[in-house]
Amino acid sequence: STTEEQLILEAYQWLAKLYHHLLYHTKDGKKGLEYLHQRGFSDDAIEKFQIGFSPQSRDFIVKFLEKKGYHRQLMVKAGFLTTNDQINYFDRFRGRIIFPIRNAIGKTVGFGGRSIDNQEPKYLNSPESELFQKSKLLYNFDNARSEIRKRNEVILLEGYADVLALYQAGVMNAVASLGTSFTDSHANILRRYVETVVICFDGDTAGQNATYKTLKLLKKVGCNVKIAMLPNGYDPDQYIQEFGAEAFRHTILDTSASEMTFLISHLKKNYNLNQEGDRLRYVENIISEIALLDSSIKRDHYLRELSEQFSLSYEALQQDLAVKMQNSK
Ligand code: GTP
Ligand code: MN
Ligand code: MN
Ligand code: MN
Ligand code: MN
Repeated sequence: STTEEQLILEAYQWLAKLYHHLLYHTKDGKKGLEYLHQRGFSDDAIEKFQIGFSPQSRDFIVKFLEKKGYHRQLMVKAGFLTTNDQINYFDRFRGRIIFPIRNAIGKTVGFGGRSIDNQEPKYLNSPESELFQKSKLLYNFDNARSEIRKRNEVILLEGYADVLALYQAGVMNAVASLGTSFTDSHANILRRYVETVVICFDGDTAGQNATYKTLKLLKKVGCNVKIAMLPNGYDPDQYIQEFGAEAFRHTILDTSASEMTFLISHLKKNYNLNQEGDRLRYVENIISEIALLDSSIKRDHYLRELSEQFSLSYEALQQDLAVKMQNSK
């Protein structure tokens, strides 16, 4: 009901404040703060994102919220508590860095909790609920919204830490999905605000595969997509901490690739290009992708590139493309 939802929102607000306070003012929190500082996160960023720390205790939150008059049932429903046996409930977040997750109008509706002692899982999130739906929420969307609109461009990242790192690098139009994969709801939300989405996922196989899937979803809703690729083994945060904000902006963002350039290199991985059969199947695959491009200038550009690179007749490729475009109508 509405009142229950309001109580949960209010409790989230209390908790976010409390966790943030504990980060700076308790012995437990000091470990978290040292961890954040050591990773290069500034007090300004910690403040801006209201980062906090949850104490190691099993009943800290239970007691705090009970004192404020909240019922245990509500705390369970909101996801503050957890249980192993449906009888004994205890604090869900213990000894973790807390990233409050806000909805589009800036209300905290969930937490992401990162362990700082190699405890698994690395990140623990609030459970799914009416208020907290990971498939529809984007981290930092509330802060970034006006800049996203102004630039007509959004930078899409994998993680919370990446968003903080870009903020510190002066890039304010960045958001991240919440660990789960990017969905068509996410795509629809972004499409309402921008024409161009720059995907900047981690420089590993998982990041590349996620880039491919995300690219497809964004094209489906009519976005223009660019791919900012990182060197192998780096994510945006690591890259910025190691090479600096300037390098990130000039070497990674400003040189982002077109979707075709990404696809041409990404799809290669499925084929052994030394084998004639594979080579031809790869070319077919690329032609199918070219057929999906919305401008004939672009289609012609990549067709020529393909014909040169694989020493294939341009006219033959053109015929192939025409058939594919006919079929996809
Ligand atoms: P750091 O190690 O703190 O820099 O995090 P990261 O963002 O680089 O982590 P990673 O690239 O491994 O994962 C990207 C995002 O996926 C994270 O920001 C989380 O939102 C999510 N994620 C990562 N690990 C887990 C996990 O163990 N459980 C859940 N639920 N989500 C995770
Ligand atoms: Mn503060
Ligand atoms: Mn990753
Ligand atoms: Mn990462
Ligand atoms: Mn990282």
